[in-house]
Amino acid sequence: MLGHQPGYDDAGVYKAMEDAVAAGKLRSIGISNYYTKAQVDEVLSFAKIVPAVIQNENHLYYQNIALQDYVSQYGIVIESWYPFGGRGHTAEHFGNSVITELAEKYGKSSAQIILRWQLQAGFIAIPGSSNPEHIAENYDLFDFELTEEEMQRIRGLDRQARYENW
Ligand SMILES: NC(=O)c1ccc[n+]([C@@H]2O[C@H](COP(=O)([O-])OP(=O)(O)OC[C@H]3O[C@@H](n4cnc5c(N)ncnc54)[C@H](OP(=O)(O)O)[C@@H]3O)[C@@H](O)[C@H]2O)c1
Repeated sequence: MLGHQPGYDDAGVYKAMEDAVAAGKLRSIGISNYYTKAQVDEVLSFAKIVPAVIQNENHLYYQNIALQDYVSQYGIVIESWYPFGGRGHTAEHFGNSVITELAEKYGKSSAQIILRWQLQAGFIAIPGSSNPEHIAENYDLFDFELTEEEMQRIRGLDRQARYENW
């Protein structure tokens, strides 16, 4: 279970989740939409259980690299929502020329290149799909590996541009 966003009795929300873990009702807890070191530090100041994940908007054009560097010392993993930019924006991601070039090289789809980058970069990605073929495709990522140079090219696409602001 995740606390969806900061700003609404954050300590109380987090304690309720910790109580549910103690009661055996939840196995694992985390937070969502926490983008700054200060926001994370506040949670860590009252948390008895370190969040397992921070689920944030995280994609080609908004890479949470600085936050990932900071929270890795606590064993916290960044989980990406909108890994393809979200509905209405996927073409901008799937059609990026770096992504289409790599898709051609590896004989994979753009979606698979993006998800492979997410995994190799240390993120957990949760793509949304209601298409069974896409869902199967999104798991078929483990028969190729991007090179370090290719990872850096994708890293270079970051322009710190979010689609949402919550
Ligand atoms: N914590 C938060 O504040 C927050 C905010 C937003 C979203 N989320 C979560 O993030 C997850 C993903 O969000 P999202 O679904 O809006 O965005 P997304 O995963 O970036 O994009 C979903 C879009 O990608 C398409 N797609 C998926 N796999 C594909 C493939 N292999 N080939 C081509 N198209 C593909 C889907 O279409 P098809 O259905 O046709 O496959 C859908 O239109 C959801 O679980 C959502 O609940 C969390």
